[in-house]
Amino acid sequence: MSGTGLARGPLVTALEAAVWAPSPHNTQPWYFEVDGDRVAVFLDPRRVLAIVDPEGREARLSCGAAILNMRVALRAAGRRPVVHLLPDRAAPECLAVVQAGALYRPTPVDAELARAIVRRRSNRRPFADQAVPPGVREALIQAARKEGADLVLLNEPASLDEAAALLRRAEHLQSEDPAFQDELSSWTTDSHESDEGVPVHAGGPRPPAGTLLSLRQYGNPRQRMERPYEPEPLVVVLGSFTDTPLAHVRTGQALQRVLLTAASMGVSASFLSQPIEMPATRTALRELVGGHTYPQAMLRLGYGYPSPPTGRRPAEAVTRRTECGSVPTSGMDGGEDR
Ligand SMILES: Cc1cc2nc3c(=O)[nH]c(=O)nc-3n(C[C@H](O)[C@H](O)[C@H](O)COP(=O)(O)O)c2cc1C
Repeated sequence: MSGTGLARGPLVTALEAAVWAPSPHNTQPWYFEVDGDRVAVFLDPRRVLAIVDPEGREARLSCGAAILNMRVALRAAGRRPVVHLLPDRAAPECLAVVQAGALYRPTPVDAELARAIVRRRSNRRPFADQAVPPGVREALIQAARKEGADLVLLNEPASLDEAAALLRRAEHLQSEDPAFQDELSSWTTDSHESDEGVPVHAGGPRPPAGTLLSLRQYGNPRQRMERPYEPEPLVVVLGSFTDTPLAHVRTGQALQRVLLTAASMGVSASFLSQPIEMPATRTALRELVGGHTYPQAMLRLGYGYPSPPTGRRPAEAVTRRTECGSVPTSGMDGGEDR
């Protein structure tokens, strides 16, 4: 990375992978500090959405997703990742320290997940009327479990209908809130070149009246063609067993492992976060999925036509070198990946 003076190697590969993580409104709420062989992952408080994410929960999920990308990229580059989460109680915005550990022989799965990092996109377009098979569903459940999270598939029509009703209620509340709408439009862009925010072209067509799921609208939906969406969508809820900052970072890693596993199997995803962003609907969603986990992400999954990529600030624009030993060395949660 010429701007930072960092030589090519596993850490640079990991940083280049990190920035492809998803984030709400494509805010990319992260920056990285490199000190010798350690990379510290920081939450950027200026990029936390004040209205939709006042506690920074979604921002921590996004940084967790970036950390998972780093772990996957390190493995594919033949190094075992060593990760310490929340390494410094006095600096809660330092979410992780990542190092390249022992040499490691990548497996075919490592290579597939690594390839999926840049291929994965939020796909807000209609999916084919084709069920996601049981083997893929099970792989997604296992991907979440591997990272200590719980993935609930809303297989029963009654549960799906109830989740869809919560989605519509939350979407309605957000559409009536001028502060929410201002924040959304400030992160929506007409440009195809922008390296942040959500481009209007990343939105899907306008769903006909009566469509089960309401997707978040970037730009004016009336300017879009109307097209039917899949009649029986697969909707899943990713939950964590606690709702602490550490749980958010860990569940962000689970989220990204689910998304990369899906992408590596040809399955597209889009987010349905509205009911989790509003306290009343989040509580109702928690009950709907059994009451023992905290909903952190709701996704719609299926088979779709490829959707265009959304821009990113390059790794070198969000990375700086420090040589003052400011990157902590140990942590509360973590160690070498097994
Ligand atoms: C925690 C979180 C919540 C999100 N919520 C929504 C959402 O409700 N609706 C939506 O269309 N996209 C949502 N997104 C997707 C982002 O808009 C998307 O990741 C970003 O624009 C980058 O695009 P990409 O995922 O195609 O790389 C969310 C992403 C994250 C990480």
